Amino acid sequence: MTLLVDPPQTFVPAASLVVNKPRHVGGARRLIDSYGRRIGDLRISVTDRCNFRCVYCMPEEGMQWLKRDTILTFDEIERVSRVAVELGVEEIRLTGGEPTLRPGLPELVERVSRLPVRSLSLTTNGFLLRSLARPLAEAGLKRINVSLDTLQHDRFHQIARRRGLDEVLAGLEELERYPSISPIKVNVVAMRDFTEVEVVAFAELARRKPYVIRFIEFMPLDADGNWQRERVLSGNEIKAIIERDFMPMVPVPAEPSSTSRRFTFSDGIGEIGFINPVSQPFCGTCNRIRLTADGQLRTCLFSIDEWDLRGPLRSGASDDDLADILTQAVSHKELKHKINEGAAFQRASRSMSQIGG
Ligand code: 5AD
Ligand code: SF4
Repeated sequence: MTLLVDPPQTFVPAASLVVNKPRHVGGARRLIDSYGRRIGDLRISVTDRCNFRCVYCMPEEGMQWLKRDTILTFDEIERVSRVAVELGVEEIRLTGGEPTLRPGLPELVERVSRLPVRSLSLTTNGFLLRSLARPLAEAGLKRINVSLDTLQHDRFHQIARRRGLDEVLAGLEELERYPSISPIKVNVVAMRDFTEVEVVAFAELARRKPYVIRFIEFMPLDADGNWQRERVLSGNEIKAIIERDFMPMVPVPAEPSSTSRRFTFSDGIGEIGFINPVSQPFCGTCNRIRLTADGQLRTCLFSIDEWDLRGPLRSGASDDDLADILTQAVSHKELKHKINEGAAFQRASRSMSQIGG
């Protein structure tokens, strides 16, 4: 891991050396990057651990977990979130690894939900949702994304390298009992020579159940480094399969910063989304930053550099100092990913489970 800012032993705020340090008064300071993008979305990984080993994310064996004392505490996560919200972040998403493995997750949700955010969401593999849906709803969770790449048991094992389809489906059903968590989104990572045969089954699911099904193009974020362009099954190809073998779709207008191209069917029943980061990159409107479980700020999934917040958090940094680091990091946010720039493109320095989706 490359750190742009090394964790200092004793934190000396760089800005304290500047005499006329710009103050931020009443939240007037905003996180805006050097390309004019306003950062409104913070994704926080609460653990790097996972109970699955999805092929597009983790190796089969030999994951090295972060040491427990390097993982941010709830107090630390709450503090970074509050500072980020004061700087204009309006949406917070909790991710992993698998966030439901973090003991006490509903308590964290409860604490973060007290901040003035427009949306508080969770990305989960769904395995533990049957028992967690209720406490999460009661804690104030507003939205959820459940990862589910296949509806068949043997294929589930092929992808996740664990059994768990029944648990995930039961978790989704349980969610339906808590209307305060809405919408329920199902994320399907689409891979060529795998996903095609179930595209129609997912389209049917989107009509039968109150789930928005979203197909996500496979990105080079797998720990094994097996990603190949040929394995990317594009959103347009999937849309063509649905329209050819199932039913025509009509577009649903989306927000400008939305990463998903949304469609419904002609009778208005069911919603399908396509997230096409490879074939139709949306970096130009990207408004996200990410905090890893060990307190490193990343301004892009494909960042090479990270900004350390854990060191400062643990050595007396003030809220202003944290705001300075966030502002600095955002001012260096990458223009775009380079997945489409030929063989020389730079892979991400961590895999998806270590970054948080
Ligand atoms: N490409 C695309 N999506 C991925 N995810 C994990 N790894 C990849 C990848 N290599 C998805 C998961 C989950 C979200 C956090 O990111 O399926 O829905
Ligand atoms: Fe776990 Fe999610 Fe990675 Fe699958 S994609 S191994 S569920 S962190």
